[in-house]
Amino acid sequence: MNMNQAAIEAIQKVKARLGDELILLAHHYQRPELTALADKLGDSYELAKAARDAKDARFIVFCGVRFMAEAAEVLRRDEQKVFHPEATAGCPLADFADRASVEAAWNRMSEVRGPEAIMPLVYMNSTAELKAFVGKHGGAVCTSSNAGRAFEWAFRERQVVFFLPDEHLGRNTVAGMDIKPEEVVLWDPSSPEGGVEVDRLKKARVILWKGYCHVHTAFTIEDVAWARQKHPDARILVHPECPQPVVQAVDGAGSTSYLVREVAEAAPGTTLIIGTEMHLVERLTAQYSDRQVIPLRRSLCYNMARIDLTNLRATMEALPEGPVVQLDEELKADARLALERMLSI
Ligand code: 13P
Ligand code: SF4
Repeated sequence: MNMNQAAIEAIQKVKARLGDELILLAHHYQRPELTALADKLGDSYELAKAARDAKDARFIVFCGVRFMAEAAEVLRRDEQKVFHPEATAGCPLADFADRASVEAAWNRMSEVRGPEAIMPLVYMNSTAELKAFVGKHGGAVCTSSNAGRAFEWAFRERQVVFFLPDEHLGRNTVAGMDIKPEEVVLWDPSSPEGGVEVDRLKKARVILWKGYCHVHTAFTIEDVAWARQKHPDARILVHPECPQPVVQAVDGAGSTSYLVREVAEAAPGTTLIIGTEMHLVERLTAQYSDRQVIPLRRSLCYNMARIDLTNLRATMEALPEGPVVQLDEELKADARLALERMLSI
């Protein structure tokens, strides 16, 4: 028996022993050997909800990046514990917005526009600390599947939307709304006062944070042109963390769940070219062999890939001890406010 097989059997043994007391969650971008073992596959928000809704599960083992395990920790029930097999599996996009820089930006914006004018909206791909900041200031979390609705809600409540930390999801969301390009400004935390002149800040309706996902900004309009030439009948679909010119050049953009659904619902024989993390695209290719599913480019989230059979096995075998996710209670209460506001929008 090779090492992988031994790890798979050891993980299955723990699952059999703990039964419904354990739920093993895996994000769509996880390695195939892990998605095959999961009780539930999903996007970040679906997984956090699935953990809470699994009534008998006391142990939640989360295969995904840190902000996802933190969201599950924020939403979990009292008797549950969340375990994350590799604490260094972070998300560079989430790390673009640290609390100190965000507070400094917030203070400057509030000084120019007034404290009640700005609604903070935070993407799910953010630290629990940032969600807590937003919750405390009356704002909400959103995901790539409900960003449009969240922006509309924010504009009903206040004059300006401060969206962070993904510039591209912000731009792609605003593109479908009645907002002029000059009313959108980009806040660069590495420049004094965000690099935004006071006159522009006074007129802004949307303030975007300068952050991006390296996995999705790897896709280019040249990739799209190549794909069109090679597969003229294909539908090309991408995630809205891709730059706006890419999103505008393709046939559709949407969340991880949207991409999964579009492939699942496509007619046999269809060709689909997908611009998102490569482990998901490869899994869809294998799963739907009666249609052609091709990556727009092979783009890897190496942080997602830090969870593997070795650290998952160690986590499972150590239960009920092990790499438990812990957050300050006050921080969790504020972050929960922002997450629950998303549900009420
Ligand atoms: P979702 O699971 O919310 O779609 O986000 C995944 C992600 O990390 C996109 O890059
Ligand atoms: Fe973060 Fe991008 Fe990886 Fe998603 S794909 S976890 S946003 S680095």
